[in-house]
Amino acid sequence: MATILIVEDEPKMARLLELGFAEDGLATRTAPDAEAGLKILAQEPIDLVVTDLKLPGMNGLEFLQAIKRANASLPVVVMTAFGTVETAVEAMKAGASDYVLKPFSLEEMNLIVHKELDVHQLREENRNLREALGQRYEFKNIVARSSQMQEVLAMVERVAPSNSTVLLGGESGVGKDLIARAIHQHSKRAAGPFIKINCTAIPENLLESELFGYEKGAFTGAVSSKPGKFELADKGTIFLDEIGDVPSTIQVKLLRVLQEREFERLGGTKTLKVDVRVVAATNQDLRAALEQGTFREDLFYRLNVVPISIPPLREHKEDIPYLVDHFIQRFAGEGEKPITGITPAAQKMLMEFHWPGNVRELENIIERAVALSTGTVLDVSDIRLDLSPTRTAASPPAAGTEAKFIPEGLTLEQFEDELIKEALRRANGNKSQAARLLGLSRNTLRYRLSKIGVPDEQ
Ligand SMILES: Nc1ncnc2c1ncn2[C@@H]1O[C@H](COP(=O)(O)OP(=O)(O)OP(=O)(O)O)[C@@H](O)[C@H]1O
Ligand SMILES: [Mg+2]
Repeated sequence: MATILIVEDEPKMARLLELGFAEDGLATRTAPDAEAGLKILAQEPIDLVVTDLKLPGMNGLEFLQAIKRANASLPVVVMTAFGTVETAVEAMKAGASDYVLKPFSLEEMNLIVHKELDVHQLREENRNLREALGQRYEFKNIVARSSQMQEVLAMVERVAPSNSTVLLGGESGVGKDLIARAIHQHSKRAAGPFIKINCTAIPENLLESELFGYEKGAFTGAVSSKPGKFELADKGTIFLDEIGDVPSTIQVKLLRVLQEREFERLGGTKTLKVDVRVVAATNQDLRAALEQGTFREDLFYRLNVVPISIPPLREHKEDIPYLVDHFIQRFAGEGEKPITGITPAAQKMLMEFHWPGNVRELENIIERAVALSTGTVLDVSDIRLDLSPTRTAASPPAAGTEAKFIPEGLTLEQFEDELIKEALRRANGNKSQAARLLGLSRNTLRYRLSKIGVPDEQ
């Protein structure tokens, strides 16, 4: 029996949760504030924490950080008031597993808690297995040396053979397509079709017929009937890419397919049954879309059975050297170029970049470098990073907000270094001019450049 620690200062709320969890077969411990919570955590085995973010004394966010310092893998679900999604997002960034917005139903809370307990258990089992076997996950064409990416592959290996719906999350270019295909290839359906549909790329009026097909005469222009992607994916996997962009009319229909595995073609009366495994991907925060009412909650829970989130490249930079080798091999081979590696200086430059476009951006940069290089090793001069300082890592800013801030993943100092290098480039290497652009004295600029490692020729 799993034990949940409830940290909540409102006695009524705490009591309600205790009852709700008990009904669901979970044991509970309750603390009225963070301090008492930490005491219980230190003394008793706890499987999951549910905490309010607004607490007396140490607030929920600080509490979360304290828990993560003590036990990084303990799942923590935070409760926060409606309309404070920003805090919820903060909490997720600080390591919370999930959040619920108040007011919520006990059903919703129980669903999230069970999901987190399951995912946690899977992870633990995986880790134990891997440690026992000294195992490393190796998938063809996927570079994953870092522990973060090993974790992703471990999850893939675990869920692939089942028919569970998987929801892949992660910024653009992190490898969601790649992982979706890997899930298919490692499933019992590998011999069946893998059908991908990009929900953003297709106009709303066409998306429905693409997904479900149509009968002759269903609309003007439907001169013959056509099967949809769900039919084509029978006995295989359908990959719904950019699921966050599916319009609400189609969300309803998707829900039905996910629940019943059945649908009708447009203009058709016959109900079709299909045997498909669904993998969906999104680079948006679907929980925020739920809050805004643009994404159906029931559909979200149907999709979010096994969530796998792929970390941005800046969070697993240890993989960069291996990715670089992997891409050099591929592109040098394709172009029959005699390139065998990369200089340490160029490597360092790649390690220090913050990669807003993730692995795809690295791949493009290596491809270009290989194509342009005239030597046998790639050097700094072959590598063109996109250093425009307003490029941020995360998805585009919400309407009305300006992204004039330090790009995510960069420290202030790194950001300044990028600006200095950019100024030098704009000034064609002329240091006096670069200093003027930056409003620095020439000496200050020379000092900063020496710290970055740009040699002073004079
Ligand atoms: N771990 C990896 N090892 C090798 N190649 C990778 C890895 N991750 C991503 N790539 C490569 O980077 C490119 C981008 O990956 P992919 O298309 O899977 O990203 P994505 O998350 O689907 O992006 P988007 O959100 O823009 O659709 C692909 O060419 C893919 O092969
Ligand atoms: Mg993709």
